[in-house]
Amino acid sequence: MVLFAACVGLVAFAPVGQTSNQQPAAVASPAEKTVEQTKKNIKVLSGLPDSQLIPVMNFMSASLGVRCIYCHVNTEEKWDFVSDEKPEKNKAREMIKMVLAINKDTFRGNTEVSCYTCHHGRTSPSNVPALPIPEVTPRPAAAETKPGETKPAVPTADQILAKYTEALGGSAAIDKLKTRSMKGDWVTSSGLTWGYEVYQSGPDKIHVVLNTPKQGVFERGFNGSVGWEKSIHGLRALEGQELAVLRRYPDLFKDIKLKEQFSRLTFGGKDKIGDREVYVLRGMTTDNRRERLYFDTQTGLLVRRVTSSPTMIGLIPEQIDFEDYRNVDGLMVPFTLRISSVDPNISSTRKFTEIKLNVPIDETKFNKPPAPSTP
Ligand code: HEC
Ligand code: HEC
Repeated sequence: MVLFAACVGLVAFAPVGQTSNQQPAAVASPAEKTVEQTKKNIKVLSGLPDSQLIPVMNFMSASLGVRCIYCHVNTEEKWDFVSDEKPEKNKAREMIKMVLAINKDTFRGNTEVSCYTCHHGRTSPSNVPALPIPEVTPRPAAAETKPGETKPAVPTADQILAKYTEALGGSAAIDKLKTRSMKGDWVTSSGLTWGYEVYQSGPDKIHVVLNTPKQGVFERGFNGSVGWEKSIHGLRALEGQELAVLRRYPDLFKDIKLKEQFSRLTFGGKDKIGDREVYVLRGMTTDNRRERLYFDTQTGLLVRRVTSSPTMIGLIPEQIDFEDYRNVDGLMVPFTLRISSVDPNISSTRKFTEIKLNVPIDETKFNKPPAPSTP
């Protein structure tokens, strides 16, 4: 139960109350406010959980290949997101209404059409095929099985997961896992390198230190109930989206104990990542996100995890690549994580130089520090 709670806590975006004929309607957690309650000038996104607003804005930006400034006003380095001054913002409202209507009327409420469906990273979608059209190559005939020959057996999801547990070091080593401390670099999507430290005590206590040359040290923590941030700007509570992002990664068991996070998990074929052959598992998490898991067919290790979080205007994707696995006290641990997101602030590469498992961590590290006394 504790583990399940931790996994739910990792969700960046609570699923929207969108109905679909394939999945039960998910409801935003009752505690969460919607954007028309928290923001000033919402005309079409009513009902969107507050924690999804920025992900949705990033999704629209990525779909059109633009930045916030394309629709929002920024004067003297200050954003005015409330303003309707830019015509593009109102155009986007019309487009949001259109997308909601298409999906409701034509796709039975499933979010099949999103901004990306037409825009493909451009502001003006093309409505004619590009000429010259590429030569159409005939599909290779499916390799026929000759009589007497059997098709190669495909593994089941359970077999792939069992092989993964073994590849990591076995369930005994996994069950022993209590704490993890990691040190290394956080390389941003624009190429800056920050010092990065993570302390975790399982499953859901976390303390992260980010050492930036320009803005000083950022510390963020969660002790199982209270989230906080300490920086040169002071000490504050972390709530909503920010708390969700902190807790989403890295949870101690999130990429280790996979099975219990899914309500459905099936074999999805073979694929290739670089020159490695991988098995793909497709799943639906207990909190209604679609995921794909990619396992190296040789080593059995998890090499990629792609999550799609449903929102009212589309599925927001996020990808994590796990690289440079090394043995730490009997458990295989990836020393490099590449995180790709529609949010440039989340996209980053985390390269660890030191990872320690099961060393005692001072539990007070996770608590919100006392407020600095005012002089
Ligand atoms: C393609 C246009 C577009 C882009 C790009 C865009 N937005 Fe928006 N944004 C909108 C629209 C439209 C609304 C109003 C939605 C409504 O009326 O329901 C909005 C509303 C907002 C609001 C709420 C303002 C309020 O208080 O009413 C915030 C905050 C916001 N956007 C932030 C961002 C950020 C941050 C980015 C860049 C990551 C961004 N937006 C990119 C179109 C855009
Ligand atoms: C069914 C296809 C389709 C979908 C889906 C779609 N758009 Fe568009 N969009 C277009 C077309 C076509 C144009 C250009 C036509 C025009 O300028 O009026 C356009 C133009 C725009 C423009 C104005 C661009 C400019 O430079 O004038 C904005 C902003 C925009 N779309 C935002 C969005 C957003 C945000 C979404 C998702 C909520 C979205 N669109 C979904 C087809 C689509």
